[in-house]
Order: sequence, then structure tokens, then C-alpha cells
Amino acid sequence: MVGELKELRELAPGSLHDLLIEETAAWRRELHWDFEPSAALVRQFADEQTLGGHALVSGREVLGYAYTVSDNEKGLIGDLFVREQYRTVERENRLLAACVDSLAKMRGIRRIEAQILLLKAPRPMPAAYHDQLQVHERQFLQCALRPWPAWPSGAAQSRLDIDSWHSRYHDEAARLLADSYDGHVDSQINDQYQSIGGARRFLTYLVDYPGCGAFDEEASLLAWNRDTGRLVGMCLASRVAPETGHVTQVCVSPSMRGRGVAFALMVDSLRAMSAAGCSHCSLTVTSANRKAIGLYERMGFVRKQSFAAMVWDGIRPPRRGFFS
Ligand SMILES: CC(C)(COP(=O)(O)OP(=O)(O)OC[C@H]1O[C@@H](n2cnc3c(N)ncnc32)[C@H](O)[C@@H]1OP(=O)(O)O)[C@@H](O)C(=O)NCCC(=O)NCCS
Repeated sequence: MVGELKELRELAPGSLHDLLIEETAAWRRELHWDFEPSAALVRQFADEQTLGGHALVSGREVLGYAYTVSDNEKGLIGDLFVREQYRTVERENRLLAACVDSLAKMRGIRRIEAQILLLKAPRPMPAAYHDQLQVHERQFLQCALRPWPAWPSGAAQSRLDIDSWHSRYHDEAARLLADSYDGHVDSQINDQYQSIGGARRFLTYLVDYPGCGAFDEEASLLAWNRDTGRLVGMCLASRVAPETGHVTQVCVSPSMRGRGVAFALMVDSLRAMSAAGCSHCSLTVTSANRKAIGLYERMGFVRKQSFAAMVWDGIRPPRRGFFS
């Protein structure tokens, strides 16, 4: 029994209730992450029958689901979760393929992105539109903040002014972000890194929306070069559970790399999280980004799991027959 594929909009209100309880418990158990705020939004839109996406259903039971959102030319698969008892690669692939197919058929969609943490196993998937699919392995890392590790202060600190985030720096931060990710593998995974306008939208999403946790202004830091007065690095953070901080962004301007700027920012950010009661910090990183992984490992982060970032670019909907 693979389950019958249905659109989320066809499900009766309340159908995702048990699945979302199980998913919330899995996020807490495996990632120290409070999924409840995201689950509440999914529940609300699913109950209003306005959420795009698909479910695998058997009788009255929902075995798994995946939801989608679209933004201009881009489609996103926001989440995909199959209940543990039913979790198979085949079911995950059916949900994935159904989402890609329905997004690809939407007018104007050229690109689809998905980063799904709780899949059965990270692997390239034989999904629909595989000619346009690129898969990048990513890692979920975690670091214990209790007891507080005795990290040395870097020499860089004496040449930097490190300050908390403020929205008046939004545009300058967007410029730094686009500059830092020019030609970087992560800008293939998230096309918002490819332009200053995209970077602005990325920052708005991090600061104003709860998708990646609640933005933590105290632990989100900007580094200014004391000699030039220019913004040279930032480390942004959010709270994903009362006891867990999450680093959502670290970047340093290319001309200032290798001088301990990221290290100094992260030490201060993790210290702020610890002072605010966090026992853990997590982050995600692309496996090909060896420089960043080396920095995180040196700070005590360890890999908890791998997952796939999938991108379908240059989507062209299949040609339709004359009468279809
Ligand atoms: C990854 C990135 C943020 C690193 O920034 P950086 O300022 O160059 O990093 P640092 O100088 O702080 O660290 C570089 C090295 O010095 C070490 N280091 C720095 N200060 C140190 C200190 N006080 N004590 C011990 N080691 C230190 C780091 O561990 C790292 O080791 P390595 O040389 O073996 O790699 C930067 O390359 C960047 O912006 N890349 C593009 C964006 C990106 O990839 N972001 C991460 C996405 S997950």
C-alpha cells in the first residue's frame, strides 16, 4: 500500500493533525528544533484548504505530505514529511515528483528549490524533470554551548567594531551578502544570493518571518572595519527552540577573509546565545564548502545529518498535445 495521492486542498480540515504532531516530535528529537510555529501555519492553511501540495492518503489516514509555495518565477517545496511507520524512498519520491510536476505546470515558474531535512536518506532522487535537477549535499551541524567552550578571542577583534544587527543596515548587509556569494556554490542553491535585490529579500525573510526560527537581534552581529568604516562581515542568528540557537548566515567580504573575522563574529554570537539560555546551536552548510566546515569544526560543531538541496532550473513545462 503506497497510498493514494491527493491534493492538500482536497483534504478535510484536521486531516494533517496526527502527522504534524509526529513531525513536531521528530524535529525536536533529531534537530533540537521547535517545529510548532511552522506546524501551526501549515495546519491553518491546510484547514482553510488553501495550501498547495500533495498528500499520500490511505483511508482516513495521511501517510505523508509535502507543501509548495510560489514566488514570481520560483517555486519552493517548503516541507516533505512521511510518517516514520510508512517512510520509504518510493513514497517520498511520489510526493516530491507530484510537487515538482504541479509547480512546473504553473504559469511562469522557471525554477524550483527544495531543502528537506527529514528525508529517509539524502540521495539524488529520480524525480520528475530530472534533466533540470541539480542536487547538492548539505549538512546539519550542531554545537553544545554548555559548558561554554573556552574559545580564544581572535586577533581580528582588535581591528573590528562588532555591533548588533539593526534594520538601518539592511541595504549594506544585502550588498555584503551578494558580494560574499559571488560565484559561490550556495548561490546555485539559493538564487537570492545572486543579486543585491535577491539578498534584500533573503534578509527580509530572515528578519521578519518565522520560517527559520525567530530572528535573534542580540546574537545577530555585524563587523565593521575600524580603519575604513565599511561593513566586512556578519553572523545572523535565530532562536529555533527555547534552548536552541541557529546561525542562519555567516559571511565575510572577500578582501577580508582568512583574518579571523568570521571566527570573532561567531564566538560573540554563540556567547550571546549561551547568555540567553541556549544549550545548543545549529547551522547548515554545503558539503563542498570546505573552508566554512573547517571553521565550524574548529569551533566544536559536529555533523548530525546530511540532507539534499535540490534545484530544478530552466523548467519548461512538457509540451501538450493539440487537444490536451
Ligand atoms: C566561510 C567564511 C565566512 C570564513 O570567513 P573568514 O573570516 O575568512 O574566516 P576566519 O578567518 O575567521 O577563519 C579562517 C581560519 O582561521 C581560523 N581561525 C580564525 N580565528 C581563529 C582563532 N582566534 N583561533 C583559532 N582559529 C582561528 C579558522 O578556524 C579558519 O581555519 P582554516 O584556516 O583552517 O580554514 C568566508 O570564507 C565567507 O564569507 N565565505 C562565503 C560565504 C560562506 O561560505 N559562508 C558560510 C556559509 S555556511
